[in-house]
Amino acid sequence: MNNERIETLIEEAFAARKMAYTPYSHFQVGAALLTEKGGIYRGCNIENAAYTPTNCAERTAFFKAVSEGERSFTAIAVVGGPEEASEFDWCAPCGVCRQVMKEFCHEDAFQIILARSVKEYKVYTLAELLPMGFGPDNLQ
Ligand code: THU
Repeated sequence: MNNERIETLIEEAFAARKMAYTPYSHFQVGAALLTEKGGIYRGCNIENAAYTPTNCAERTAFFKAVSEGERSFTAIAVVGGPEEASEFDWCAPCGVCRQVMKEFCHEDAFQIILARSVKEYKVYTLAELLPMGFGPDNLQ
């Protein structure tokens, strides 16, 4: 993926982060998921008073996309930090979100872009972030 496309995806992730519902952790995450067809689905984290129903930004993006019929994905950009942050540290997907990615994405092709700003980012494959994961192939 070229730099311009990556930067657009990061901008989308920052826009998604603005919708985060985080009255408990005050830690806001935004994700932007790119489909193979070129569409982008945004996701934010959505917390809950009972805590465990909280949904991460990455899974929000995936579930929005899958529920609209999408099944093939190219990349996801993730940005996160405290509510009032003006500078950002790397925000890597939690294990549960990596497992959701594993369900729908090719581990060597799917790219996970962690960004601190539009110009400062690192790109990983799913295989790098979830080595030896359990996936649909294991059940065949
Ligand atoms: N969170 C995400 O949305 N994605 C991540 O990659 C890490 C954590 C959320 C969950 C919770 O709402 C808050 O960040 C603090 O854990």
